[in-house]
Amino acid sequence: MKPANAPLNSSTVTPRRVWDLPTRVFHWLLLTAVVGLVITGNVGNDWLYWHFRLGYLVLSLVLFRVVWGVVGGHWSRFASFLPTPGRIAAYLRSLRDPDASHPAGHNPLGGLSVLAFLFLLAAQVLSGFMSDDEIANSGPWVAHVSERWVEWATWYHTEVGKLLILVLVLLHLGAVAWYQRVKGQRLVQAMVTGDKALPADTPASRDTALTRLLALMVWAACGYAVYLWVNV
Ligand code: HEM
Repeated sequence: MKPANAPLNSSTVTPRRVWDLPTRVFHWLLLTAVVGLVITGNVGNDWLYWHFRLGYLVLSLVLFRVVWGVVGGHWSRFASFLPTPGRIAAYLRSLRDPDASHPAGHNPLGGLSVLAFLFLLAAQVLSGFMSDDEIANSGPWVAHVSERWVEWATWYHTEVGKLLILVLVLLHLGAVAWYQRVKGQRLVQAMVTGDKALPADTPASRDTALTRLLALMVWAACGYAVYLWVNV
């Protein structure tokens, strides 16, 4: 099997499946849900009903992505992009070399941002579970935790977490734009079609009807877990 950083610059280049359909649906659904959360959170009032539901959706997506990071397509697995300090240092050095090969999946910095996204999004939803606006809306766990926790979670949810996610999204968009325009890598197209032009012997992510059905079942199980947590 080829290493995670499979080179692009070999002779026969052909479209290879990098992002399986579940990973792509995860990504674009996450983007839509996060945009919806920002809007409903800012409008407030009756829209908080949808803010809560979109938050549950995001938690189910985060859980799904964690499981998919273990059983999903080759390039969606954590093992293919775990950002160890050694991999990050080697990658940063390679940025100065115009002949260096590009990773087929996430580069180590992209891998780091995936982990940061999953962590910050989970923290944002779980802190929302314990948040209280002291007017009409409170998260589903407010009645089950101490006042101190509610205060802390509300502060984190409204003052800290959303800013951290905003910074990460801006870094993410900046990085994608830089690779796209400066480095000439068609990352957005790959997140839409699933394919990248790669050497023919680059391992492809499995993306069959069966793996898609498995993804649906995993996501349904994650949704059910969130439902149980919300209704403790
Ligand atoms: C128009 C907006 C966006 C565009 C064009 C975009 C584009 C992309 C692209 C091209 C990748 C693959 C990067 C690579 O090849 O390594 C990616 C991955 C990712 N993006 Fe975005 N993104 C957008 C918004 C967002 C937002 C708002 C979030 C989260 C709040 C997000 C979270 C992620 C995550 C978690 C991944 C990793 C996907 C995975 O491995 O499952 N993105 N994005």
